[in-house]
Amino acid sequence: MPMVGSGFSILSEDFAAAPHRSFAWLREHAPVHYEPSIDSYFLSRFQDVKRVLTDHEAFTTETLQVRAQPVMRGPVLAQMTGAEHTAKRKTFVRAFTGAALQDHTRAVHANAADLIAPFLARGRVDLVNDFGKPFAVQMTLDVLGLDKEDWRQVAEWHSGVAEFITGIALTPERRRHCLDCAEQLEAYLVPVIEHRRRHPGEDLVSKLCTAEFDGTTMGNDEVTALIVNVLVAATEPADKTLALLFKHLIDHPDQMARVRRDPALLPAAIAETLRYTPPVQLIPRLAQREAVFAGTTVPAGATVFCMIGPANRDPEAFTAPDTFDIDRPDLGTARSFTAAAQHLAFGTGLHQCVGAAFARAELETVAAMLLPLLDQVRYSPGFRYRETGLYTRGPAALSLDFTPVREGGTGRG
Ligand code: HEM
Repeated sequence: MPMVGSGFSILSEDFAAAPHRSFAWLREHAPVHYEPSIDSYFLSRFQDVKRVLTDHEAFTTETLQVRAQPVMRGPVLAQMTGAEHTAKRKTFVRAFTGAALQDHTRAVHANAADLIAPFLARGRVDLVNDFGKPFAVQMTLDVLGLDKEDWRQVAEWHSGVAEFITGIALTPERRRHCLDCAEQLEAYLVPVIEHRRRHPGEDLVSKLCTAEFDGTTMGNDEVTALIVNVLVAATEPADKTLALLFKHLIDHPDQMARVRRDPALLPAAIAETLRYTPPVQLIPRLAQREAVFAGTTVPAGATVFCMIGPANRDPEAFTAPDTFDIDRPDLGTARSFTAAAQHLAFGTGLHQCVGAAFARAELETVAAMLLPLLDQVRYSPGFRYRETGLYTRGPAALSLDFTPVREGGTGRG
């Protein structure tokens, strides 16, 4: 049952435990929910969320600037506008599509095979902590052209930065920890940037160092911010989506069996996972002028959170929205990883995820590789499923048992 009544809060423990139980109630009874303690409005209907994300003049990304400024030394893509945004976004688009994408796909295979190998003979893996998290970090480092040897350290630092940006109510201790992480990550990246300026390669860091905008290259602060932008944006949603995909397929054995028989169904399964359980649950914007939603006025200057979870389950947008269905005709899989996506898991409008095509390739490749290796995959005995996170959300762990693989069957090849 949803938590109804005037005491409802998005910041409550009840909501944190199972947000989806309140989605229908929010859409129907509180489509413009106000949280006084953080002076913010939460929108949950598909059309309202879409309106905010596509009306770039009335709703800007300035909120992100405020959230990110203390941990970023320069602007991230999400807070840029106009010609600067278009030009800098292009550098990313080139790095995440076409021939570059094919190179990354090869790296997906190699990284995934190395990471899963130690677990195959045991027949047990925690798909989040043993595999998904290191995999997503290593892939992001590969894409950027950073040293994978340092992945544990870099992961800890960028998690601190991400926690700062997505934290809704940080304690002073966590805040200090996050700021320390930002400083250490910057101290690690600046020498790398300076080296790439002198010896540029084909990697994204080199491209960011050498790209010219209005005849000038970016300073170290700006390049650092964009690298951290990718680290924060690319890793968390990818590892969460992979674990959620496996969870939904395990919970729907008929759909699991079909995907196993026909891996061409994987893009539909990934797209439906993104619709059903979007890993990025909140996208903040700043209202530049007064706006009315469902009869409620949001004042100029207000922080507005777009709630992607309930928007993606709005019956006005999707039939039987609370059902996980890889065959749903209203999703349009072919469009699901493009600017024309019907779901809102990648956002929409100018700031829609620039890594969507890459995320599809990464997830499709790794899932196609894992499925045959994880035969008879099921939850480990005694495992209790639990999700965490308000801003980004996913399983805390996903302990899975499967038929142990004999030596030599590592999936490499
Ligand atoms: C399943 C995986 C992913 C999901 C669900 C996801 C989700 C999102 C969302 C919701 C936004 C929009 C934020 C806003 O409007 O303020 C976004 C932006 C962005 N994403 Fe992703 N993302 C994913 C994977 C990736 C990957 C793999 C990369 C890079 C390799 C990436 C890089 C970015 C960047 C740089 C932006 C900012 C774009 C801009 O402001 O122009 N994302 N992502």
